[in-house]
Amino acid sequence: MSSPNLPFDAIAIDGPAASGKSTVARVLAERLNLVMVNSGEMYRAVTLAVVQQGVDPCDPIAVANLVKAIKLRCVVENGGSQILLDGEYPGNALRSDDVNAAVSAVAAVPEVRHLLVALQRELLQYGDLVMEGRDIGSVVFPATPYKIYIEASEEVRRQRRAAEGQMDSVGDRDRQDSARKTSPLVVPDGAEVIDSSQMVIEEVVEAVLGVLGARGWFDRESERNLP
Ligand code: DC
Repeated sequence: MSSPNLPFDAIAIDGPAASGKSTVARVLAERLNLVMVNSGEMYRAVTLAVVQQGVDPCDPIAVANLVKAIKLRCVVENGGSQILLDGEYPGNALRSDDVNAAVSAVAAVPEVRHLLVALQRELLQYGDLVMEGRDIGSVVFPATPYKIYIEASEEVRRQRRAAEGQMDSVGDRDRQDSARKTSPLVVPDGAEVIDSSQMVIEEVVEAVLGVLGARGWFDRESERNLP
């Protein structure tokens, strides 16, 4: 079990920006009927509030004060989680250039991480889930055996973002995300590392399914049904 108190399990997918985590997590969620959680959207929602309210993202005290004041809620709809800021899903605004530029600084603030990790853990009450991010296997669900780390070369990841039409300095974000003091981007203990640089999505999904199978994901139902 990923949590001692709940009957559900979490698959943790971590990795740097544009490594293919979200797409792989979405396909896995569909195939295995899991709740899909994109934890990056939660950090982006806080960052959107920072940008909208004119707070300096590099002022951790101001960001910590803001995060106490905003109304953030997470709901599960149509098999996926949605982050609501003041009761509404911000949609494309989560991926604006301003948010891309500020999100790593905001995500380094301990008060922000504290709040969001609590919201992320609560989602396990809705069922088995796949959650992707930077600290899912290391901090959010360290007890899960189902940990995958997907990486790809910086050049490939930059090209993927450019093909999506986004201005996003993935290398700079990775360096900030890896260097921060609280919950940096790391390969979690016990994670299987998959390099997706030369793979199409279906190949990555197959590789992940192989890891899950080897770690007993598909044997869980029979174990749960034992008297
Ligand atoms: O997955 P993404 O690129 O949308 O994430 C945006 C930023 O959020 C990322 O640069 C770092 C932060 N993040 C984090 O610190 N921890 C997570 N679990 C997920 C994202």
